[in-house]
Amino acid sequence: MDKIIIKGGRQLSGTVQVSGSKNAALPILIATLLTDGECVVRNVPELKDIETVIALLGVLGKQVVRQGDTVQVSASSSLYAEAPYEIVRRMRASILVMGPLVARLKRARVSLPGGCVIGRRPVDIHLKGFSTLGADITLREGYIEVQANHLRGRDLRLTFPSVGATENLMMVATLTSGTTRLFNAAREPEIEDLARFLNGMGAHVQGAGTSRITIVGVPSLHGAHHRVIPDRIEAGTYLLAAAITQGRITLQGVEPPHLTALLQTLRKAGVQVLIDASSNTITTDGKGRLRPVTIKTAPYPSFPTDLQAQWMALMAVTAGVSRITEQIFEDRFLHVSELVRMGADIHTEGNTAIIRGVKVLCGAPVMVSDLRAGAALILAGLVAKGTTVVHRVYHLDRGYAALVPQLCALGASIDRISS
Ligand code: EPZ
Repeated sequence: MDKIIIKGGRQLSGTVQVSGSKNAALPILIATLLTDGECVVRNVPELKDIETVIALLGVLGKQVVRQGDTVQVSASSSLYAEAPYEIVRRMRASILVMGPLVARLKRARVSLPGGCVIGRRPVDIHLKGFSTLGADITLREGYIEVQANHLRGRDLRLTFPSVGATENLMMVATLTSGTTRLFNAAREPEIEDLARFLNGMGAHVQGAGTSRITIVGVPSLHGAHHRVIPDRIEAGTYLLAAAITQGRITLQGVEPPHLTALLQTLRKAGVQVLIDASSNTITTDGKGRLRPVTIKTAPYPSFPTDLQAQWMALMAVTAGVSRITEQIFEDRFLHVSELVRMGADIHTEGNTAIIRGVKVLCGAPVMVSDLRAGAALILAGLVAKGTTVVHRVYHLDRGYAALVPQLCALGASIDRISS
């Protein structure tokens, strides 16, 4: 089990090239199941979750060749309708294969993704959408069994703007006869990127990025080429690394409009943010005394839940009192106890954390519970006095390509050791 060792106190400065978005690449690679044609997807990050989805595509009958940041997907055999537990348990996003498999084969057998440390993560919104389209759904032995011989386009109103449910239903609707309209759809940039890819395959998807998406079904889709958007959460994590170390970082290859909520909040906290839309760069300068800023996470375009833990790390060393209300997941405060062990003054009341900034955090051995909590502990270690040893770093490999070498290049004293 690898560990990350950080000696705090260094100011970060330099330039970071942002990777492709994990949460856009995953549904786009899964969407290649909608065609037997060849698809070429570029700017795909090198992450554990991407390896998992490539393995899943192989199990389902695809031939996948990865060269650097480019993934080529073509048909190797007829599609297989079952996504096994062994893979789904590794990555919840595997549930997204339901859309393409039902669209192509009119049936699917997908392992129910379990919950995870940040919440129960049910899939009721996905299943309600499929049954409204006419699918018969049975839950048996931990699997979702779908039979869908007569799907028809319908109006689907999502009870919550679920990112995954929006993606799953968009994909199945592309090959479902008639018109499907999603109301209260998720508006994340990753949804828009998936829609661009689907339309490149010959689908008719309109309104992605808004809360109403209209899909007119077509008989079949062809292969397409696509470049994945930059990862806004990775980008935000580096901006917060600059802020917490009072350093100055320039991000390259980023989409500033995807980070509006974070950039506005950073400015409110007193961080200098320079945006150059013409060159897709953002520079932040964390020098000077920061102010506490209270946030509430909410669906895009509000403050993203995937940056909540990282924001908490910054507020933990910002003089004054701030609050964080987590409105997306029911248990996304597992990083609080680890930050408190480093000397942070944080307590939680239900889904709200109250943070009193302290002058100094102290390095300590800490444990990563989930991907983004891990990033928060790394940020805290960068500014803590002494040495922080971060355990269970495999969580980080799911969502951050080259975090340690990137931070090292920015001046951090950070190292990854295998034990
Ligand atoms: C996506 O997860 C992201 N993952 C998550 O990023 C992100 O935190 C989340 O969206 C919210 O933005 C990927 O895109 C692969 P949801 P997803 O369906 O689709 C509830 C990361 O760190 N819900 O929008 O699973 C659910 O329990 C990961 O990169 C239902 O109740 O998120 C949660 O409380 C973590 N029923 C809320 O909605 C459903 O059928 C948001 O879930 C579906 C969801």
